[in-house]
Amino acid sequence: MPPSIAKKLHAPLAQMLYVSEAAMPQSPAVLGTIMRAAARNNVVAEITGILLVGEGTYLQILEGDPFRIARTYERIRLDARHMHVQCLHFDRAPKRNFKGHPLGLARRDGTGAQLSPEHAAPIIRLARRILDAGPDAPEAAVKSLLDFVVWCENARAKAA
Ligand SMILES: Cc1cc2nc3c(=O)[nH]c(=O)nc-3n(C[C@H](O)[C@H](O)[C@H](O)COP(=O)(O)O)c2cc1C
Repeated sequence: MPPSIAKKLHAPLAQMLYVSEAAMPQSPAVLGTIMRAAARNNVVAEITGILLVGEGTYLQILEGDPFRIARTYERIRLDARHMHVQCLHFDRAPKRNFKGHPLGLARRDGTGAQLSPEHAAPIIRLARRILDAGPDAPEAAVKSLLDFVVWCENARAKAA
């Protein structure tokens, strides 16, 4: 089959980024239940991504089928463990950046880190500023946030 047709038959790929504020301490117990739910559901839904955690802030990137992402996000949005959930970006993506990770976790302090703490910390700080700016976060800031996470992940994968 010509590659152009094979491409069309493929389900579209989308990428979403949201930030939120923790409604309770980001303890190992809380993060453990989140990661277990993600491992359970994201594998089935073929969703990959990363969750950055720190300073009372969550930043998550989800990639996969747009409808499956939307369904997952609806569940996440209503989760009482966080609040002020703000979707900053939801668009088609040319490829997956977090292939093979149902949901990587990066903490600001480096525990369980997929991104190194020196990478995760400035991202979390930027996410926090965007969150504090409210729903009118500048698009350029969101774009650089997304690029930054992806760049860090690529750097990590290369170094591994
Ligand atoms: C910050 C945060 C990120 C989450 N990420 C995911 C996720 O990627 N996938 C998922 O299925 N659930 C995620 N959850 C958990 C969902 O809100 C929900 O508890 C879970 O999907 C329910 O799954 P279950 O019906 O299998 O127990 C997240 C929750 C929080 C607070």
